[in-house]
Amino acid sequence: MDPFRLRALLLFSAVLGRAAASVLPDGPVDAVLGRNVTLETLLRDPQYAFIVWSFSDDSDPEPVATVGGSGSTTYTVSDPYKDRVSVNRTNGFLTLRGLRSADSGDYSINVIGADGVTRTGGVKLRVLEPVSEVLIKSDVPEAVEHNSTVVLICTAKGSFLNFTWLNGTAAVKADGRRVVLKEEEASSQLTFYGVLRTDLKGPLVCTAANKLETDKSAAFSLTVHYGPDDVQIRPSKPARFIRSRSSFNLSCSAVSSPAATFRWFYNEQQVQADGPVLPLETIEKLGHGQQEGSYTCVAANAKTGRAARSPPVTFGVMEPISGATLTGPSGVLIAGNHSANLSCAAAAGAVQTISWLKDGQPLRPGAVFSPDRSSVLLSPLLKEDNGKVSCRLSNPVNAEDAVFTLVVNYGPETPAVSGREAVEVEDPVTLTCSAPSQPPANYTWRFNGSLTAVKTATYTIDQARYSHSGTYLCEASNAVTGRTSSKAFTLSVKEELVEGLSDGAIAGIVIAVLVALGAAVALVFYCRQKVPVDSPY
Ligand SMILES: *[C@@H]1O[C@H](CO)[C@@H](O)[C@H](O)[C@H]1NC(C)=O
Ligand SMILES: *[C@@H]1O[C@H](CO)[C@@H](O)[C@H](O)[C@H]1NC(C)=O
Ligand SMILES: *[C@@H]1O[C@H](CO)[C@@H](O)[C@H](O)[C@H]1NC(C)=O
Ligand SMILES: *[C@@H]1O[C@H](CO)[C@@H](O)[C@H](O)[C@H]1NC(C)=O
Ligand SMILES: *[C@@H]1O[C@H](CO)[C@@H](O)[C@H](O)[C@H]1NC(C)=O
Ligand SMILES: *[C@@H]1O[C@H](CO)[C@@H](O)[C@H](O)[C@H]1NC(C)=O
Ligand SMILES: *[C@@H]1O[C@H](CO)[C@@H](O)[C@H](O)[C@H]1NC(C)=O
Ligand SMILES: *[C@@H]1O[C@H](CO)[C@@H](O)[C@H](O)[C@H]1NC(C)=O
Ligand SMILES: *[C@@H]1O[C@H](CO)[C@@H](O)[C@H](O)[C@H]1NC(C)=O
Ligand SMILES: *[C@@H]1O[C@H](CO)[C@@H](O)[C@H](O)[C@H]1NC(C)=O
Repeated sequence: MDPFRLRALLLFSAVLGRAAASVLPDGPVDAVLGRNVTLETLLRDPQYAFIVWSFSDDSDPEPVATVGGSGSTTYTVSDPYKDRVSVNRTNGFLTLRGLRSADSGDYSINVIGADGVTRTGGVKLRVLEPVSEVLIKSDVPEAVEHNSTVVLICTAKGSFLNFTWLNGTAAVKADGRRVVLKEEEASSQLTFYGVLRTDLKGPLVCTAANKLETDKSAAFSLTVHYGPDDVQIRPSKPARFIRSRSSFNLSCSAVSSPAATFRWFYNEQQVQADGPVLPLETIEKLGHGQQEGSYTCVAANAKTGRAARSPPVTFGVMEPISGATLTGPSGVLIAGNHSANLSCAAAAGAVQTISWLKDGQPLRPGAVFSPDRSSVLLSPLLKEDNGKVSCRLSNPVNAEDAVFTLVVNYGPETPAVSGREAVEVEDPVTLTCSAPSQPPANYTWRFNGSLTAVKTATYTIDQARYSHSGTYLCEASNAVTGRTSSKAFTLSVKEELVEGLSDGAIAGIVIAVLVALGAAVALVFYCRQKVPVDSPY
């Protein structure tokens, strides 16, 4: 077949073929530049004289290849397609290898039967550029939360690209107001008005895809500066007073990017110290804090140009109490004659309260405190004042105790002498004399007026004799008070006392008493009956 005739035939059949049942599937067929594509037919084991593939790119069809049916040796490939094109004789499939952009266009097939009936079809081939160089670009290198508008553009090479944006693994939600997505010819534009800190953390990934290929951009994230927010001092509620020179710090924190810088204020005046930690040491060194005052911290972010102030934290610094002493009289004290002024003081520290105890109990009535309770006057001293007096000096940061031992001399008071007053011969005798006294009294004993050699509180006789009967006088003396007192005790030493009655004897006595009582009762009744009562008439 000469080319001219063929061309005329093709023109004719192209017109015809549009109406006839297609022998090609619906297109378009997409294929990637440089790759191979096979344009398939719907023919199965067709009987034909010729199959003619031709190509048109909005112009007249140009033949691509012509093959003859069984028995024919015709197999012609047009020059531009030499070595790139083959047609399968069995099913008529056309394979194009090493696709070029110029291969995009309409392909048609003419299947010319032995009887001259021509079936025809057409399909569009799109040679797609491969997807590559997917890139996210931002119009700004960094942003400020709420202030900045950030425009991200995703570009890529390739044909018929669709772009999608991923935030982590989820699709980016464009609300059309704050976050606006705009599709361009070969790019996609994502705009954030008043960008938020979370918007661009992503990481964001842009995907460019066409029907055949997909490519992703590198993960993208953009620093959005924000804050400072939520400025807080820790501890937020310190004790009202902090112990001076203790290990105590105020620390300030803020949510901020980049990290905030911190300044401190004491009662609205800037403290000459910066940084997130304000140690008590610095507060004291700068002479702040003796008075209760309020501390605030101001956090600033140079990138956002914003600053925020923490809620105030209030406390005072207090010197702990140390070197507590309780002083009292140093001389000898005698109850009734002397008084004692006890006074409690600390070598250092601010004393706020002073409390007093005597042997763990409140001081007795009659103790007179100075108005500030730093001293107490016991006047006159009583014997009950002997013991340990303690004072406790305290303030909100600590407390210290001091003790003074009061020794109040008194007595001896009238002794008490205990012992059996009547003993039998040969019984042992112990007389015990006790006279309350401070210091403890010295004792002497007189018997019937004569001084004995006994100088202890107890007078002991191993075996009483009659001659031990008499008056024993215990004399107690106290050299410190210069007082003495004495108490007499009479001892009688007797013969054996009545024998103890046996149970039988007691029973006998009881019975005898009952019998006698019975007789007396009987006698009374008898007399009532027998003695006549004289009538007065
Ligand atoms: C295209 O086909 C040729 C020959 O069949 C083959 O050698 C080549 O690897 C194919 N190329 C691609 C990209 O498939
Ligand atoms: C042509 O198509 C037939 C049927 O699909 C197949 O069996 C055969 O291998 C193909 N020939 C070539 C050269 O690809
Ligand atoms: C990305 O995800 C984070 C958290 O999942 C969200 O806060 C942020 O707004 C999202 N950004 C965009 C652009 O969707
Ligand atoms: C691209 O997007 C358009 C419109 O949403 C859609 O019709 C088309 O099928 C998409 N193509 C690909 C390759 O996803
Ligand atoms: C206070 O801060 C200093 C450093 O500034 C640190 O050495 C010390 O341990 C901190 N003390 C407390 C109680 O946090
Ligand atoms: C952010 O916006 C506020 C008010 O619109 C402005 O005063 C401020 O200077 C802006 N900050 C920066 C860093 O541009
Ligand atoms: C105690 O006081 C009394 C009377 O006031 C006095 O007689 C006595 O000497 C005083 N004792 C001492 C030890 O001072
Ligand atoms: C007790 O002693 C203190 C300190 O020495 C003194 O200030 C105070 O006036 C004294 N009290 C009396 C009642 O003497
Ligand atoms: C002591 O006095 C009592 C009573 O006056 C007398 O009975 C007794 O004999 C006296 N004893 C001595 C040893 O003098
Ligand atoms: C008791 O006697 C001793 C020795 O003579 C003397 O040292 C001491 O002071 C006396 N004690 C009293 C309380 O009189």
